[in-house]
Amino acid sequence: MAYSLPLFLTSLLLAISICHAQTSFRPRALVVPVRKDASTQQYVTTIQQRTPLVPVNLVVHLGGQYLWVDCDNGYVSSTYRPARCRSAQCSLANANGCGDCFSGPRPGCNNNTCGVTPDNPFIQLATGGELAEDVVSARSTDGSNPGRAAVAPRFLFACAPTFLLRGLASGATGLAGLGRARIGMPSLFAAAFSFRRKFAVCLSSSTSANGVIFFGDGPYNFIRVPAPLNPAASLAFTPLFVNPVSTAGAFSQGEASTEYFIKINSINVNNSPVAINTTLLDIDGEGNGGTKISTVNQYTILETSIYRAVVDAFSRATAGIRRAAAVAPFELCYDRGSVGSTRVGPGVPNIDLVLQGQNAVWTWTGSNSMVSVNDDVLCLAVVNGGANPRTAVVIGGHQIEDNLLQFDLAASRLGFSNTLLGRQTTCANFNFTSTA
Ligand SMILES: *[C@@H]1O[C@H](CO)[C@@H](O)[C@H](O)[C@H]1NC(C)=O
Ligand SMILES: *[C@@H]1O[C@H](CO)[C@@H](O)[C@H](O)[C@H]1NC(C)=O
Ligand SMILES: *[C@@H]1O[C@H](CO)[C@@H](O)[C@H](O)[C@H]1NC(C)=O
Repeated sequence: MAYSLPLFLTSLLLAISICHAQTSFRPRALVVPVRKDASTQQYVTTIQQRTPLVPVNLVVHLGGQYLWVDCDNGYVSSTYRPARCRSAQCSLANANGCGDCFSGPRPGCNNNTCGVTPDNPFIQLATGGELAEDVVSARSTDGSNPGRAAVAPRFLFACAPTFLLRGLASGATGLAGLGRARIGMPSLFAAAFSFRRKFAVCLSSSTSANGVIFFGDGPYNFIRVPAPLNPAASLAFTPLFVNPVSTAGAFSQGEASTEYFIKINSINVNNSPVAINTTLLDIDGEGNGGTKISTVNQYTILETSIYRAVVDAFSRATAGIRRAAAVAPFELCYDRGSVGSTRVGPGVPNIDLVLQGQNAVWTWTGSNSMVSVNDDVLCLAVVNGGANPRTAVVIGGHQIEDNLLQFDLAASRLGFSNTLLGRQTTCANFNFTSTA
């Protein structure tokens, strides 16, 4: 005790001076670009990390627990700090273990540190990794353009071994976990810069034009003629639900899921309700059932009875459109030449998710319901999830493209815009020209 006290005081003073430096510039919100990777269809964002700062490409995992990066290959930083056993950082991460590492010291391998279990849901693999802090930087925004860089001097993340990158888009060296955990990136940015625990995602459907993620509150302005559109000004809202049982690759008993669950009350196809077993739409005591939004899956996955009901109703509603042979994993496909074209995608009947909450109807027009599988064929972009999936409805990336989704963690609600195509703009229309 007599020896540890001076050490404690030194680190306390260091912490105070760092906090002081941090308050000199407080952004209102942050903005990062999101690229759709052509070969994997994953969404990849870029932040700056370490000292000196380097760009780090990260696959976006909307419900992911926290940021993790490969520390085994080329991680160089003078500001890397492992989280010491029983520190506040360890308890924030629920990391109660304490470990040593014999091949270090180096980032990812230090003695007397706590570990977490980063996972890669694309290959369903989880492994141990050191919890740590380092500098993270992203551009601030006034809602219209990126401004000067904002720096979080001690941003918590997990170190992972290089093999955990398998299955991720080329050039990505980690995962951006945007889940609702206390150490999820939205909560850490909100804590670092004292803004509300809100963030918004607007994914581009194009692999050649970037979408965007905002941390902090709106406005979120998108270029449009004659005047920019701020979809945050006219969102519909639905509550977010906590699944009491973790959906991560590895977890301890009693841990809740960090993914974003919503409640579908009913589904309409062409304005008529589809008969579905509504029990499946609730999350049961074991954490089964319900609906989540995920950027891990490209297309919406429906439990088999819901899938059958929706596909059959859509098939009936499109009886007049010439069919094409099925193209796996899709069943219902059409001859492109016989499908009309509209501002909001292929001219097909709408699919409405009637969500909990007033006027909370999330409408999929052709741009979100249909996918072009080749030059001649369009298919209904939903996949059969089998009879006993963990989650009954997984809303995938294709269905949220060109929709602005705002997650408000403090109020536990999701705001959604419906397709921006109907309002003459897209998620690729944020103006990334810097005004710094
Ligand atoms: C951890 O401690 C062990 C035993 O004292 C030592 O052999 C090892 O080199 C240390 N490792 C690191 C990373 O400091
Ligand atoms: C509805 O789904 C629940 C949960 O899977 C199941 O127990 C029940 O038997 C189903 N009801 C009908 C009518 O199929
Ligand atoms: C993008 O922002 C820059 C800087 O404010 C501005 O000069 C430019 O006109 C904007 N571009 C469009 C298309 O609005």
